[in-house]
Amino acid sequence: MAITARRYYRGTNVGRAVTIADLRAMATRRLPAFVLEYLEGGAEDEWTLRRNREVFSTIEFSPATLTGVGSPDLSTMLFGVRMRLPFLIAPTGFNALYVREGDRLLAQAAAKAGVPFTQSTVSNMRVEEIADVEGLHHWMQLYVFRDQVFVDELVERAKKAGCQALLVTVDAATFGNREWDRRNYRQGMEPTLRNKLDILAHPRWALSVMAHGIPPFGNLLDFLPADQQSFARTATWSREQIEPRLHWDHIRHLRKIWPRTLIIKGVATLQDAELAAEAGVDGIVLSNHGGRQLDGVPSPVSVLPEIAGRLKGRLTILVDSGFRRGTDIVKALALGADGVMIGRATLYGLAAGGEAGAARAIAILEEEIRRSLALLGCGSIAELDRRYIRP
Ligand SMILES: Cc1cc2nc3c(=O)[nH]c(=O)nc-3n(C[C@H](O)[C@H](O)[C@H](O)COP(=O)(O)O)c2cc1C
Repeated sequence: MAITARRYYRGTNVGRAVTIADLRAMATRRLPAFVLEYLEGGAEDEWTLRRNREVFSTIEFSPATLTGVGSPDLSTMLFGVRMRLPFLIAPTGFNALYVREGDRLLAQAAAKAGVPFTQSTVSNMRVEEIADVEGLHHWMQLYVFRDQVFVDELVERAKKAGCQALLVTVDAATFGNREWDRRNYRQGMEPTLRNKLDILAHPRWALSVMAHGIPPFGNLLDFLPADQQSFARTATWSREQIEPRLHWDHIRHLRKIWPRTLIIKGVATLQDAELAAEAGVDGIVLSNHGGRQLDGVPSPVSVLPEIAGRLKGRLTILVDSGFRRGTDIVKALALGADGVMIGRATLYGLAAGGEAGAARAIAILEEEIRRSLALLGCGSIAELDRRYIRP
């Protein structure tokens, strides 16, 4: 019998969100269509975007009963630091599009939960502003731009700001083809009339975001002349700046100028994972950018076992793309990941309810991981391995 009365919570009280899907439903209601499209969409036919979710339904658990687990230990070691939880916030650009000061609010929620926050090159706040968030494990993401001076200066600023890790994105040597997103704009980054009218139907969002004007990308401001610093101009400039000849030499250069943890994000194959180890990086993120770059690549979770089998212990292996559930995270950790990065799941929380919404998303994932470990009969993240996955 179909239960027609079932529906996600769509109100405004984030405390009533039971799952990430509820926060997504709340965000869907609050955001105008073009903002929702930017958050949700993927490249071209979105095959990879769908695959990122479908892969989890091909992996089955193998639980142990009567193991006397009690309350499982969710902490994990990453780069020599004990983290309270086995997941981190992935870098996402343009967080102020959901709520005013989105970067700061997401970073604050992360800091309070002991979860590292990775700030995007194209965040709306400067690296120095996020460095002020108390108690934060602050990581910085780098898009390698053509302008070497920009790259070296941003790295220097991240160093001075105390960032603990530099995460270099390597799956974006050109901007992904997000066709549904493109249809929402005229020339330049100007939303179509239909999208402008849709803003009127979303007053809560408009009051938070539009009332103060969309802020430009904070880290890029010093590189643009004063009359070129509008949001549209910085957005266009950043896309033109992407280094199309991105090469391992860039990584070797960054290895020389960045003394702390160096990670490359966007690795998709065993071969590249091995080259990363040879280039002297400390970690990799197996990622397809949440299905936003090359359509047709597999979910990182399907290549994870092979890569972890060869490289675990030599490199820290993080993974992202498609994680919406504690069980998704537990599956990846059991298959050999050292940690999981979360993109949209916490953005849904941020878009649904600012800092409280982001905190709710983190709490939901934490609760789900804890419950799943208890039901698996596994006492800690450290003990999770292939025994808990049905071959
Ligand atoms: C709205 C949005 C913006 C993003 N911006 C960036 C970015 O600036 N830099 C980057 O390396 N990755 C960026 N990503 C990719 C994320 O870091 C991450 O790889 C991806 O979101 C993981 O997939 P998930 O959203 O399914 O969790 C972005 C993703 C989204 C959804």
